[in-house]
Amino acid sequence: MNLHGKTALITGASAGIGRATALQLAGQGARIIALGRRQDALAALQAQLPSGQVLTLPGDLTEAPYLKQIEALAPQVDIFVNNAGVLRYAPILELSPADCQWMFQTNVLAALEVSQIIARAMVARKQGHIVFMSSIAAREVYRLASVYCATKHALSALARSLRIELQGHGIKVTEVAPGMVDTEIRAGSTHPDVLASVATRKFKALTADEVAQAVAYAVGAEPNCCPDLIELRPQGSA
Ligand SMILES: NC(=O)c1ccc[n+]([C@@H]2O[C@H](COP(=O)([O-])OP(=O)(O)OC[C@H]3O[C@@H](n4cnc5c(N)ncnc54)[C@H](OP(=O)(O)O)[C@@H]3O)[C@@H](O)[C@H]2O)c1
Repeated sequence: MNLHGKTALITGASAGIGRATALQLAGQGARIIALGRRQDALAALQAQLPSGQVLTLPGDLTEAPYLKQIEALAPQVDIFVNNAGVLRYAPILELSPADCQWMFQTNVLAALEVSQIIARAMVARKQGHIVFMSSIAAREVYRLASVYCATKHALSALARSLRIELQGHGIKVTEVAPGMVDTEIRAGSTHPDVLASVATRKFKALTADEVAQAVAYAVGAEPNCCPDLIELRPQGSA
């Protein structure tokens, strides 16, 4: 696989799956535009790769001025990994309106706005590949994850809609849907029911690198081959 000459813009590149994906695609030769709020974490990623291979753009995807900055870079983007996301697990009757809004704002509305911005530039160039980081939670619902599952179902619907509308413009849309991955994303979910559920888990979570390999496969596929959906589960978690 050779991504030399390609530029990949990755949201949520400061941690977890996005960071692993940045390293994976950079390893295939891609230039990376790394997004996330934590400037220090983005700088650490940049320092890990050859000088000039990573451009960082720190900011909050839910803030309009930041989206303008992304728009200015959009004409350079060949691969867009729509990955940033947040999660709060809790019993549905105990989720606060603020947590629900936070998840929908980040996982659905911000993801949609950035997709529109990047996709318009891709349509103008008649090429591009957008990878949505959805989840098994886009296809199933499970206890304590109600609103997160709802956001991922919505994100998946947007990915499938974009695919239908953009395929005629030479643009591929892939949905990568992992099961549980070992990252920081659950750190803020401290409800006792959630902690008890995690403690009885009978399988080992995927690694961020394993998910990044799936992204690399998708974006490296032959021009006529469109990996539409890649589901990944830890062994024993079906
Ligand atoms: N971990 C799992 O089990 C799992 C399974 C399936 C799917 N996923 C999906 O994979 C994606 C990545 O998750 P992860 O597990 O790698 O989580 P993570 O380690 O917590 O990383 C989340 C990333 O999103 C960024 N982010 C969050 N809110 C943001 C905002 N408002 N503006 C800009 N960036 C923001 C964070 O950057 P800053 O904090 O620096 O802003 C961070 O880089 C998410 O969409 C998640 O739903 C995760």
